[in-house]
Formats: sequence, C-alpha cells, structure tokens
Amino acid sequence: MAVVKANAYGHGLEATAGTLEPLDEVDALAVSAFREATVLRDHGVRKAILILGPTVSNHYARAAAEGLSLTIHQPRQIDELAGYAHKASAEALSVHLKVDTGLHRLGFAPSEIPGLVEDLANLQPSVKVSGLYSHFHSADAADLASAKAQLDRFRSLVADLERRNLRPALCHIANTAATLRMPNAHMDMVRVGGALYGLNPSHKHCPLPEPILPALSWHTEVVQVHEVPTGAALGYGHCWQAPRPSRIAVLPVGYADGLPRNEPREVLIRGQTAPLVGTRSMNMAFADTTAIGNPPVQPGERATLMGTEGGNTLYCDRIADLEGTIEYEVTARIPASHRILRACAGESLPSGSGPL
Ligand SMILES: Cc1ncc(COP(=O)(O)O)c(C=O)c1O
Repeated sequence: MAVVKANAYGHGLEATAGTLEPLDEVDALAVSAFREATVLRDHGVRKAILILGPTVSNHYARAAAEGLSLTIHQPRQIDELAGYAHKASAEALSVHLKVDTGLHRLGFAPSEIPGLVEDLANLQPSVKVSGLYSHFHSADAADLASAKAQLDRFRSLVADLERRNLRPALCHIANTAATLRMPNAHMDMVRVGGALYGLNPSHKHCPLPEPILPALSWHTEVVQVHEVPTGAALGYGHCWQAPRPSRIAVLPVGYADGLPRNEPREVLIRGQTAPLVGTRSMNMAFADTTAIGNPPVQPGERATLMGTEGGNTLYCDRIADLEGTIEYEVTARIPASHRILRACAGESLPSGSGPL
C-alpha cells in the first residue's frame, strides 16, 4: 500500500498517484482524508484506496459508491455503520478496523476487536470488514524494543481472531521503518510512505538503503540582487545585519511556500551553498551569495531549494538537520499552491511557466 496522504508528503497527490497507479507492486493507496480519496477517484485512480483518518458518516454512501475503504477507530462509528447498513439503499462499504497497540492516536483497544468483528459481521453485506491494522510509534528508533512489543500485541490479536475464525483478510502494521527493519511485521501488506519519496524515517537510525534517493527537487530563481555594506540590515524586523559587504539575492519563496520563517536554511546556486539570511517573508527570502564569487550572482539565476545543482546536492537529510526536524516535515510542508508548479521526472513544466 503506497501512502500518498498529505498531498503525497508534499510531492503532489495527483502526479504521485498517477505514477504509482500502473505499478503491479502497488495494490492500494492510502490517504488521510475523504477529500483526498475523491480527488484521486476524480483523477481516474482505480486502485483500492484506504482513508487512514476519520471519515464522517455523511460520506459513507459516497465512499461505498467510489469503492473507498474507511478506517473505523472508535465506538461512535460502529453505531453510524449500523445506521448506514439499515438503509435500504446501502451499497457494500469496506472498512478496516484500527487497533491501538501503543501509539495512542486512533484505534480501539485490542480486547475490543473480536467483539467488534462479530458485531460488524451482522451488518453484512452492507458493511464488510476487509482489514485490521495498527501503527508503530518508534519503528525508526535505535532501540526496537517498543516496536517489537507493539508487533507482539498485534500478532497475538490476529492469532486470536484466526482461532475464532474472525480474521479479516488484510492485517497490516508496517510503515517504511518496519518494512526495512522488521520482516516479521510485513504480514498481508505493508504501508509505505517515506521510502516511496526517498525520505529517511530517521537519517541516523533508519536510513534508506542505497541507491534510494530523494524523489523531489525544488528550484526557483533569483529575482533581485542587492550589494549591501557592512552593518546593513534587511528583512522584516531588520533581524540580520551584514557582517561584511554582502551580495544578497532575493528569492520568490517564503514561509507560505513551506520554508520556515527563521530556522537556518540554505540554497544551492551554481552548485555552491548560499545560506538564507534574515527573516523569511510570506513569499520572499534572502540568500547571502557573497561567497559565490565572480561573476556575481545575477537576477534570473537558478536557485535550488532541494535537489542537485552543479554537481552538489542539498537533500532533506541536510535540511532536516539544519531545521531540527524530520525529513517528512520538510517536504510535507510544501503546500499545494498555484505558485508552486510540479512536474514528474522527465516531464517539463507547462511552456512559458516558471517560478514567476
Ligand atoms: C497510519 C499510517 N500508516 C503508514 C504511514 C507511512 O509511514 P512511513 O511514511 O514512515 O512509511 C503513516 C505515515 O505517517 C501512517 O500515518
């Protein structure tokens, strides 16, 4: 199952799903919300889709009509499913029960599951329990003890359901980290997100195997250059002062485009590193290009926010380290926006388009 939630971790939902849809290795896609699932169906995606987040009961009929599977994680939804099943018009609705084995986010206690599977069996054929799943909290940690304990809880529940002849067809728990590090967590299906995009769940403890590289590159261009003297201050709040005569490039990206407002960040220009300086604005940032040398950086030159430029790389592992976050956040923060044009590898952007 390919996890394309949150606009495919910022990569672009439709383009990513369009790339994954023809692959035999991908049986299903996972999204976080009903609206993401309907966008995929409207875009022609025919593969199975599981909605990982909560779905309100108003959407049950459309979910059934569109062949979407829902996550059922709390008692209120069981009543809502019963209400749905008793409607004469109810089409078969597929659900996966979510069990909380330790993350304490969504899910029933393991002890509740056998009774729920029995109760929901009474709602057939309008409601079908297609799956049972759980989620790890620390499968990317140095110490796998807690992940192993979660897996034990999940596997013993599945074994219990098997004994009672109640086991749903698809039992799944592995995310990227567990797919890589815990083969006995693979079960019927793995739910892989980060690895699809070349994002390390944890650069330190759970790096992706070579040659997997980040899928995303992000480029913009310099729109103006200022030569400023020592002591010149720039940007909102004048928070940065030039420590020496400096050549500052203005870039048309800012915090509304997924850059942090103040945390350290860099770009590559001509393959060389230029630190972002000053406070980023909503749609503008300053790069200190003084060290890049001659000829001086000019408006119109390409600046790479992520990816490869002039033989050098600036990947999410470096950016996440700089910002003190995880790689997933670095790409997931890039919004689905009219300002940010996306193209798959090998495709070009619409003609005449650019960062401006
Ligand atoms: C329920 C669930 N399953 C699977 C995944 C995929 O995890 P990863 O991107 O680490 O593979 C996520 C992502 O956070 C998730 O929330």
